[in-house]
Parts: sequence; structure tokens; C-alpha cells
Amino acid sequence: MTTTVIVGGFFGDEGKGKVVSYLALKDNVKIAVRTGSVNAGHTVNWNGKTYKLRIIPSAFMNEDSRLLIGAGANINVNIFFKEIRETGTEKRVGIDEQASIIEEKHILEDRGNSYLSKTIGTTGQGVGPAIAERVRRKAKLARDIPELNPYLTDVAGEVNEAIEKGENVILEGTQGTFLSLYHGTYPYVTGRDTTAAAICSEVGVGPTKIDDVLIVFKSYVTRVGAGPLPGELSLEEAERRGWLEKATVTGRIRRAAPFNYELARKAIMINGATQIALTKIDIVFPECKGIKDYDKLSLNAKKFIEEIENKLKIPVTMIGTGPEAENIIDLRREKI
Ligand code: IMP
Ligand code: MG
Repeated sequence: MTTTVIVGGFFGDEGKGKVVSYLALKDNVKIAVRTGSVNAGHTVNWNGKTYKLRIIPSAFMNEDSRLLIGAGANINVNIFFKEIRETGTEKRVGIDEQASIIEEKHILEDRGNSYLSKTIGTTGQGVGPAIAERVRRKAKLARDIPELNPYLTDVAGEVNEAIEKGENVILEGTQGTFLSLYHGTYPYVTGRDTTAAAICSEVGVGPTKIDDVLIVFKSYVTRVGAGPLPGELSLEEAERRGWLEKATVTGRIRRAAPFNYELARKAIMINGATQIALTKIDIVFPECKGIKDYDKLSLNAKKFIEEIENKLKIPVTMIGTGPEAENIIDLRREKI
């Protein structure tokens, strides 16, 4: 039984939602905590339905999992209620009483003609301004909002108790390493640190309690908003390769580039990653779609995975071969 941090290795949108949902179904996950905020959209395909989750943990489909939102998170109250309705998770959701609140004025500040909107290309969800308010010690917290009262809990307390009992715990990161306020491509970053240590800190779990840091890399790199993207392809070339994606939250076109070993190496270092989940291999190698058995992957796909392991020196334990939660080759038994 383990405590696992799931962290994005590039610029977000690596497929963390899909990986978390697979783990939720496969492992007996007692508690799943989501960090970050509504600027991040995690897509989960489950039972023929697509969920675009911005606040509820992607492990929601396991009915035995308690779903928590950590103290470091920023809550948009309307989106929270919309998602508990969509996922039917009302009875299993808890919010840390110290999570902070995004207000209308923060959303306005993040939109329109602002520096954040025009120069940085934020998602316009008010998250950065809400965090700034918190830093000024003026923010409203979850405990100040009467409608949230039934959900309030001590997330750090619940999670550490579960860890103590030896239960499976997942800490779900949002966005990606290079959008980190500290380690990313500043100023073209989000308003918080997005790395594994920060995920732990947002939840209130100490570094000695973590068994695994699973870093999620997509088989190519995408980025939305402004900022450097090494090896960026033209829109035409990205489209030709089938790599053109639309952002979950904003609907913007994601810029695309080939898998980047230099970024991946740095991300593994900063996050102390122990395993890699490699997603969307079926987009780069379409003949691999839906495959569940490593041996049935094409030669080129296997070469790509072996190259990743040789260059990055940690095992690729999960390989995503399609959008559904179950479209995963799970090599954890063989490799760890
Ligand atoms: P903010 O997080 O809305 O302040 O936006 C800052 C930068 O991070 C912009 O370039 C956004 O496009 C990017 N960003 C924020 N959240 C995500 C995400 O979940 N996936 C991808 N990019 C994101
Ligand atoms: Mg996303």
C-alpha cells in the first residue's frame, strides 16, 4: 500500500486525469486529493462519458474513494457544486477549511486587457489574482463560505491518518513542471509551484511519507498560452501529425512540439520522479491504439519507450494507448 504523487512533466495536459482514473479503478485507493485550481482541466473518459474536471479529483469513479481538496487549493464555489452534481460525489467530497476562494473580482482581474491576460495568456479563471489576495492575507477561505460548511474537513489530518494505517493514497497534481512559478519558464508560468514537493505541501503531507512520484509525460509536448516551447512545430505540421489539441478549460489551440528529453530529464530531477507514465502513444503510433499488452506494441513504439528508459534512467511503468481509463498498459508488476 502506497502514497503516490502524480505530477505533470511538461506544461500540463499530459493526461494526468486519465492516469489517476486508471489507478483509482485498479488499486484500492482510499483517499484521492486534488491540488491546484480550476485553471486546470483533467479529462476523464469513464463508462462512455467524458468528464472535464477542474476541481473534483479524477479518482471519483471509485465509489470507495474519499475525494479531498487540499488546503493549498483555490475553490470556485459554482464550479465545485456543478462538478459534485455531475459526478454524483456529494457524500464523499471534503474540502480543507483553509482552501481559499476565487471571487468574481479575481476573475475580472485575470481577463480583459490585463497584463495577465494579454502578455502571459492566462486561462482567465482568476486563480493568479486569488492567490495574490491570499498572499496579502486578505483572501476568503472555505471556512468563511456558509454553503461549503457541510464539506469542511482537515485534509492533512485525514490523509496522514490514512497513510499511517497503510492505505493507498493518491495526491493528484495539476498543470506541469514547466508552468511552476519557481521552476518553470517565468514569467510565462502559473501562480503556484506545480512540482511534487509543492503538491505534498498543498495537501500537508511531509516528504518522508511519499513512496512514489509518478511523472506523467505525453508522447509529445503541448503548451497553451505564451512562453517558450523548444522545437515548436508549425500549426500545419502539428495538424499533419495529428497532434493538434484544444485546451480543456479555454478551448484555445495547444501549441505542439516533439518529446523533449532535456525537459524530461530536468523534470525528473526537480520532482524526484521514480516512475514514468507515458500517455498518448497511440497518437504518435496509431497502430498501438487500445493495446493492453506490451508485446503487441509496434516495433517503433517499443523503440521509443526503450529510448526513454535508456536516456531518462527511470522505468516507464504505464503506457496510455487510448482515451478510456482502461486504455493503459500497466507494467508496474514487471518493473518495480
Ligand atoms: P493561469 O494558470 O490561468 O494563471 O495561466 C498561466 C499560464 O499557465 C498560461 O500560459 C496558461 O495557459 C497556463 N496554464 C494554466 N493552467 C494550465 C493547465 O491546466 N494546462 C495547461 N496550461 C495551463
Ligand atoms: Mg488539462
